[in-house]
Amino acid sequence: MSIRLGDEAPDFAADTTQGPVRFHEWKGSSWAVLFSHPKDFTPVCTTELGALAALKPEFERRNVKVIGLSVDPVDAHHRWAGDIADVTGQRLNFPLIGDPERRVSDLYGMIHPNANDTFTVRSVFVVGPDNKVKLTLTYPASTGRNFEELLRVIDSLQLTARYSVATPADWKQGEDVIVAPAVSDDDARARFPRGFVAKKPYLRVTPQPTG
Ligand code: BEZ
Repeated sequence: MSIRLGDEAPDFAADTTQGPVRFHEWKGSSWAVLFSHPKDFTPVCTTELGALAALKPEFERRNVKVIGLSVDPVDAHHRWAGDIADVTGQRLNFPLIGDPERRVSDLYGMIHPNANDTFTVRSVFVVGPDNKVKLTLTYPASTGRNFEELLRVIDSLQLTARYSVATPADWKQGEDVIVAPAVSDDDARARFPRGFVAKKPYLRVTPQPTG
């Protein structure tokens, strides 16, 4: 059974490079990103882990904890961390789950047997403070992820969790947003004091709410 948006993110206990973790306890009331890598000592994964380590302060600024997973054991992760530092200049500054028995990989459906029956694909789960899954992404092993895009999506998720808005194509922090279709014009005038422009009756645009 695949994990779908709105499902509770399954809890698990696992060994990581930062010691044993119980997922829900570790996450607490923060947001979290759980993401998988196919394999240690592989080229794309090495670049991804360095990229994410460099962006960790940006995730922290958004109250998002980051945790990775690879099907190799934790002692291999520790050895691989040396290579990641050599190549990218970044210290592995978030926990990386060792999952040689594929317990977490199977729980989250991270192995797609028709792509590869041994390695995980590049899965991403963004989990909200309520432990519900807010976003899933699946990339093949051959394509590295764009972690700036992940931050952009998290900005949208956090904004739309707080206000009755949606974000348009290619939206970035600070740009105009869309008034949620379920909000009436009268209600929109009350909720968005800076007003809105109706490009169509169903497409009303307002400055990004703040505060
Ligand atoms: C990589 O990270 O480069 C990779 C891992 C598994 C299969 C193909 C590429």
